[in-house]
Amino acid sequence: PWNPDRAADIIAEFAGIEGPAMPILHEIQHTFGFVPDAVIPMIADALNTSRAEVFGTVSFYHDFRRELPGRHVVKLCRAEACQAAGGDRLMERAEQRLGVKLGETTPDRRVTIEPIYCLGLCATAPSAMLDDRMIARLDEQKLDALLTEAQA
Ligand code: FES
Repeated sequence: PWNPDRAADIIAEFAGIEGPAMPILHEIQHTFGFVPDAVIPMIADALNTSRAEVFGTVSFYHDFRRELPGRHVVKLCRAEACQAAGGDRLMERAEQRLGVKLGETTPDRRVTIEPIYCLGLCATAPSAMLDDRMIARLDEQKLDALLTEAQA
C-alpha cells in the first residue's frame, strides 16, 4: 500500500541526479502501482519546483496513473498502426464488455483498461498487454479471452 515514508525515501534517493522528476515518478508508480496525489507536493518541495510543474509532468505522460489500478491491467494500443488495424473497434468492445471507459477500473476492482501509445509491435497490430504480457494480432476472439482471463 501507499506509504509516505517509503515515498520520501524514493524522492531522496533520486533528488540529487540530473532530471530527477521522471525517475522519481516512475519509481513511485512502480512501488505503489500509481502516483498518489499526496506525493506531488512532496516532490515539488524536494526538487524546489512548483506543484503545478510536477502535476503537469504526471498528467502529460500517459504512463502515470493517479489512482490505484485493479488487480489486472489491460493496455490497449491507441497509436496509429493499431488504430488503422481496427484498434477502435476493439477498444469499444472492451469498454462494452467491462462496462467501463478506457482509463477506468471495474467496480469489483479486478480489471483496469488503459490506453498505451505504441508497444513496438506495429508489424503485428493491433497490440495489447495483459499485465506484463504482450499480445500481438489482437482480434475479437483474443480480446474476449483476454478480458475473461483478467476478470477471473
Ligand atoms: Fe500499436 Fe505500434 S502502434 S504497437
